[in-house]
Amino acid sequence: MTDIDLSNIKPFETRDGSTTLYDEVRDIHYRSWHGAVSESRHVFLDGTALKDRGSRWRVAELGFGAAVNFTQTVQAFRSCEAAVQLIYHSVDWRPVTADHLGFHKGEAGTIARRAVDKYHSDGQSLITVRSDDEAIELHLHAQPWDDVNLAGFSAHAFYHDPFSKRVNAEAWSAESFARAKAAMEEGGRLATYSAATSVKRAMFEAGLSVATAPGPGRKREMTIASPVPDALDGLQLLDSSRYLKTS
Ligand SMILES: C[S@@+](CC[C@H](N)C(=O)[O-])C[C@H]1O[C@@H](n2cnc3c(N)ncnc32)[C@H](O)[C@@H]1O
Repeated sequence: MTDIDLSNIKPFETRDGSTTLYDEVRDIHYRSWHGAVSESRHVFLDGTALKDRGSRWRVAELGFGAAVNFTQTVQAFRSCEAAVQLIYHSVDWRPVTADHLGFHKGEAGTIARRAVDKYHSDGQSLITVRSDDEAIELHLHAQPWDDVNLAGFSAHAFYHDPFSKRVNAEAWSAESFARAKAAMEEGGRLATYSAATSVKRAMFEAGLSVATAPGPGRKREMTIASPVPDALDGLQLLDSSRYLKTS
């Protein structure tokens, strides 16, 4: 199943009072310790403009982790009158256990725990869980991102949320962003907390249009990308020639 010792992963209260997880041995927080929920809402929900997507919301995520993005998305979906369906594909090669996700309350927490519980009991690489009214579908792909097949899915919002490059270098490559692009609809948006030059370059190499936006809390910047520049209206579009080397 998973090759890391999950017993080293503990709940961690962040500065906005919300909880994420902390891996004590690898010294990694699953969300910013400045504020798990505020980062999730600012970077991923607002960054992708998901709430403006009308009645059917399609989300893809690299990094299910502590399920903060998932639970925040479900809450936003349930409070949006116009929204009738949420399809959420999330990828994680090391899903945590249901006990780890015990801090999430309500419907979203129940769905997230059912998904990881099913993974740890059945060991299947694709787990699907639906809400009681079937309006919400969570598809948890318990696999490396490189092996996941999202053919036929076209996300409005892609949450690019692996750990930092220091830990998950493979997830920040041009190949990885090209796979994300293939899983997005043309007018979709990919959001990430990173503002690194090498990340923006990899996005351009993958054929994405790239913009910068104010980051969460005291962080100056984050990055939003899309298959087409029009989807980045209102953001500061970056010039690819400043990032791509010409021969
Ligand atoms: C920052 S955490 C995700 C936080 C989560 N989105 C949340 O809101 O709580 C990163 C997660 O990405 C997963 N991950 C990192 N690289 C991956 C890869 N190449 N393939 C699949 N999962 C990966 C890790 O196992 C970890 O659970």
